[in-house]
Amino acid sequence: MTSEQQAAQSASAPTIFVLYGASGDLSRRLVMPSFFELARLGRLPQQWRLVGSGRGEMSHEEFRGHVRAALEEFGPQPSEGPWDDFAAHLLFAGGGFDDADPGRLPDVLAQAREELDGDARLVHYLAVPPGAFLSMTKGFECHGLVEGATVVYEKPYGTSLESFEELDAQVQRVFDESQVFRIDHFLAFEAMQDVIHARFANPWLAAVWNREHVAQVQIDIAETLDVAQRASFYDATGAFLDMIVTHLFQMAATVAMEPPADLGPGSLQAARDAALQDFRELDPDEVVLGQFEGYLDIDGVPADSRTDTLAAARLWIDNDRWRGVPFLLRSGKRMSADEQRITLVLRDVADGPYAGAGVQPATISFSLLEGGAVDVAMTVRRPGVEGGLAQGTASLPLGELDGATPAPPYAHLIEHVLTGDRSLFTGVEGLRAAWTCIERFSAQRPQVQPYAPGSWGPQAADALAEPGQWFLR
Ligand SMILES: NC(=O)c1ccc[n+]([C@@H]2O[C@H](COP(=O)([O-])OP(=O)(O)OC[C@H]3O[C@@H](n4cnc5c(N)ncnc54)[C@H](OP(=O)(O)O)[C@@H]3O)[C@@H](O)[C@H]2O)c1
Repeated sequence: MTSEQQAAQSASAPTIFVLYGASGDLSRRLVMPSFFELARLGRLPQQWRLVGSGRGEMSHEEFRGHVRAALEEFGPQPSEGPWDDFAAHLLFAGGGFDDADPGRLPDVLAQAREELDGDARLVHYLAVPPGAFLSMTKGFECHGLVEGATVVYEKPYGTSLESFEELDAQVQRVFDESQVFRIDHFLAFEAMQDVIHARFANPWLAAVWNREHVAQVQIDIAETLDVAQRASFYDATGAFLDMIVTHLFQMAATVAMEPPADLGPGSLQAARDAALQDFRELDPDEVVLGQFEGYLDIDGVPADSRTDTLAAARLWIDNDRWRGVPFLLRSGKRMSADEQRITLVLRDVADGPYAGAGVQPATISFSLLEGGAVDVAMTVRRPGVEGGLAQGTASLPLGELDGATPAPPYAHLIEHVLTGDRSLFTGVEGLRAAWTCIERFSAQRPQVQPYAPGSWGPQAADALAEPGQWFLR
């Protein structure tokens, strides 16, 4: 059987999807809407059930109301899809789930299995805080829910090298690696996928994708919002752990990867992991942590908190393609703009009549927002008898391409889990390399510096880009 046939077969098998943490923020805001989106697109298996799991109690009917309320708040609206049919597929299992007690899950799974024809396969989706991953993983083993199942871990998979190793040892003991999917949802944004596809589909782009032509790579995930809704979670985590070592490292590795042998799921994951293994250990002197003024006044934030609400880092990748090219990573709250952008800043003109003339460097930039966009900025002659040079930007909004139907990251991720495609998921060797890369930083965290709300962070973060400057400033 070819891998395409295998994928089609597993996508069409009766499936029971168990969503642990179904009452939580992630489930309501991102997972449930994407499930409904896939139902609207007819991309779910013919026979399926979604079992919400949680420590509280809810009837199946109350859970359907909970999912409906999530769709009404975050879309797509129930009226925009097959709501009644969708709702009939939803069940709830209360009483929690861990190694000590499976709660109501075994009974509800038995009910779901009875409702479906044949052997249903199980997908466990852990949308719970990472502190619950270990006991749930043990629970799958204790309660006989491992064989033939797929398990999906949210990020972060570990919170340090030590906790990563402890979790992964448990996961590898219980599951075969082929059963395990580890999410980093930034890999599934439309424009993020185009960092790979546009690069390898356009030889001119692939030709400049190296140290000879690229002066800097910049990755910015900036938010104007503060942390009001999730203050206690945020204060225990901070921008560096929440964003840099997870999302921005994976994005940097996607930019940095060597051409994979093919676009198959294993090849892409392996290429990204290999790039992560070339990351040089982060130097604490090349990391800036910031805290916006007013953060300590937010309800739920301790008065003496030293948590970073912004982190910026200069990362180096020790291989032939990228040696000497800084990868500048920055993410924070209460910043000047809402942006999610990867920018390759190309080198200054080195020879010819414009050498040394101070021509602004060209940039190739991928925006992840909305349906995604690719922006190419270059210098041209300013039209008119006076002449001179000007820089202009050609923008390609991906969502406006013929036939484009941009989907949210979680719709891509769930569909990939159902078809067994690992290309958008993090690999275990890459995650180990990421946690290893921040060991020295974790032992010698720099002081947190204040910054003005609505700015791009402390001045020291700007200085990381010198002698260049941040594309977003
Ligand atoms: N929210 C986001 O935007 C986002 C983005 C990317 C990744 N993630 C990741 O997704 C996961 C869930 O995030 P979230 O924001 O949805 O978290 P959350 O709202 O704090 O928790 C999700 C649910 O998990 C259950 N839960 C909480 N503590 C638990 C425990 N100790 N043991 C078992 N269940 C527990 C709770 O449901 P019950 O009380 O009903 O049991 C809770 O509603 C986390 O790993 C997070 O890092 C979240």
